[in-house]
Amino acid sequence: MADKEGLKTAKNYRPEIPFAGGRLPGGIKGVGGLDWGMQRRMTHIFRPDDGKTVMLAFDHGYFMGSTSGLERLDLLIPELMDGVDVLMGTRGAFRTCVPSGNRCGLALRVSSGSSVLDDDLSHEVVAVGIEDALRLDADAMAVQVFIGADGEKESISNLSRCINEGLTYGIPTLGVVAVGKQMERTPRYFKLATRMIAELGAQIVKSYFCDELDEIVAACPVPIVLAGGKKLPEKDALEMVRRAMDCGVSGVDMGRNVFQSACPAAMARAVSMIVHADASAAEAWEAFREISHEKT
Ligand code: 5RP
Repeated sequence: MADKEGLKTAKNYRPEIPFAGGRLPGGIKGVGGLDWGMQRRMTHIFRPDDGKTVMLAFDHGYFMGSTSGLERLDLLIPELMDGVDVLMGTRGAFRTCVPSGNRCGLALRVSSGSSVLDDDLSHEVVAVGIEDALRLDADAMAVQVFIGADGEKESISNLSRCINEGLTYGIPTLGVVAVGKQMERTPRYFKLATRMIAELGAQIVKSYFCDELDEIVAACPVPIVLAGGKKLPEKDALEMVRRAMDCGVSGVDMGRNVFQSACPAAMARAVSMIVHADASAAEAWEAFREISHEKT
């Protein structure tokens, strides 16, 4: 029986040693045990040549309605989709605002159940069934996981249901670390949440930047993508992406720091320079300024 007695703090992460488990071409980690079809969908999320991804997250409307920068998805997404690898959104957004002929990977928001009017966002359900995920040709299903929150058990149940159905039909699950209001954004918390999500069987984990991110990545046997979090000045956001890539994340899944940028297309391009061309933050910042100037 699991118990908490005698637990010792983990410390031997050895982040300098690359992951030794199953990998796909390009180094997508943790996929060795997956069916061929799931591996193929993982390559729609992570580029096969470098195992990295730039995901554009615009699923905020599932609990926020129209938020700053996302007022007109029908105008925003066609402008940005050529500059990113994956689109992360709701089924309502895809079917009404996103051209079906786009070449991006598709990460589908499948959990929901709260709104910004709720005091506690942690009580969600799996609102989108696997059949509709298949109908939309989704390459991943995104589920919010509220470790430590009141809705912890519900969100773990939601995640497990998606993993079970995803393994049956070949769609990877993206577990999104959702920091409940009462939770501290500490390395200890993120080490707990990311590893739990991976151990429960998610094929991808999304989490936030924090100290000791290299250890968090080393301890996670599947790819971690960085959520952008609240809007920062573009230069700071690019420095955060650079630092996260240096810690070993497999890319980013950014929303507000792209679509609330002064020039979203320029920001997407600058982020992609860091993720896929290993550019420095300074080089990406310079490119952002040049592209922004051209576009304004
Ligand atoms: C919203 C989400 C977003 O997909 C995730 O937070 C990334 O968006 P941002 O970069 O704006 O944080 O899960 O609940």
